[in-house]
Amino acid sequence: MRHEKFFSCAADKRRDDLNYRASISVERIPGRFPYATWHSPEGPRDVVVWCSNDQLGMSQHPKVVGAMVQTVLHAGAGAGGARDTCGTNRMLLDLEAEIADLHRKQAAMLFTSGYIANAAGLSAVARLVPRCLVISDEHNHHSMIEGISKSGCKKRIWRHNDLEHLEQILREERGRPALIAFESIYAISGDVAPIRQICDLARRFGAITYLNEANAVGICGAGGAGMAEREGLASRIDIIEGTLAQAYGCLGGYIAGRAVLVDALRTHAPGYAFTNALPPPLCAASLAAIRHLKESSWECERLAQNAATLRAGLIKAGLPVRPGQEHIISLAVGDIAMARAMCNALLSDFSLHLRPAGHSAAARDTAYLRILPSSHHDKTMLTALVNALAEVWRRFEPSWSYQPDAAE
Ligand SMILES: Cc1ncc(COP(=O)(O)O)c(C=O)c1O
Repeated sequence: MRHEKFFSCAADKRRDDLNYRASISVERIPGRFPYATWHSPEGPRDVVVWCSNDQLGMSQHPKVVGAMVQTVLHAGAGAGGARDTCGTNRMLLDLEAEIADLHRKQAAMLFTSGYIANAAGLSAVARLVPRCLVISDEHNHHSMIEGISKSGCKKRIWRHNDLEHLEQILREERGRPALIAFESIYAISGDVAPIRQICDLARRFGAITYLNEANAVGICGAGGAGMAEREGLASRIDIIEGTLAQAYGCLGGYIAGRAVLVDALRTHAPGYAFTNALPPPLCAASLAAIRHLKESSWECERLAQNAATLRAGLIKAGLPVRPGQEHIISLAVGDIAMARAMCNALLSDFSLHLRPAGHSAAARDTAYLRILPSSHHDKTMLTALVNALAEVWRRFEPSWSYQPDAAE
């Protein structure tokens, strides 16, 4: 192929700066979550997964699978078109209504993923506000960063969870319409945003609030409505963004807010309009997952218990656990190459699957091991993970320790 060297150089550059992403092939086993089959070089082997977003096991729940199977039989596999051609189906409209009801917002609109909801939705919101300044937490997810840069609006980054810095920026930019973009539970660290104080600042300075609840919906708050709901603050958030691919175990993303906003976004977000709609079977499955978690609490209670037990066990074993109380647990390693080697050892020597994570492609010296417990891990699995991590820590001796952020 002509120009091949550009691509090989790009991949080599990622290898050199240790940011090359290599996936391993794992098949999750229906009915046996959190077990999966790893296709190791020596052949297939059962492993316990500790890095799945499916933290409540919803992707394999009989109601969710049943809704998908039934719908595929009577409506087919795909949506057959974009939203304003023939892709708007009954299931999809029901799902949008269910999401609006979940967040007690006037309306909701679906995107094909949470990533697209942020990349297309956030950028359109910002573009629609004249002279909009977007103020973004420095640890915001890549999809939000992309949405903000695509908007072409002026952007200022505030130090992670640092309210004084946020206030300083709002003061400096007083007089300009501002949109504060942040997450409720941060994806890499599991840190929780000071939502109430951010809402207070937004009210004082007349700013719009855009909250990414991807890591909280389905898990936190009454009926799984998220962290803002849990804190009694949902009505003070202007725009809630979420995903159907994590706690709900399916695929898709959404934005919920006032009807007038959703109405405008439907014609101003190209990433919503110029793509095929979510297929009916996926909408039916998500609908079943949301409805189930609105009623059932054992999954979230078990997840909370497992996360607390694991966190306590890791701390007792002397491992550098990033402080927090939520269901994402991060261990500070530092060097990304070492973090990868530790994960490889956990997989090959202990049959445990977890992955390293960092805040940006450039953060090669601030890598974490990110653990996602689930409602389906049992006590034996929790103990086995703590023991294996302690052993791997002894073997590799990572030197970096958790450094509190300025705001903490
Ligand atoms: C905070 C956050 N936002 C957005 C996304 C993207 O969601 P999706 O996987 O539905 O594209 C993720 C996914 O991990 C996330 O953690």
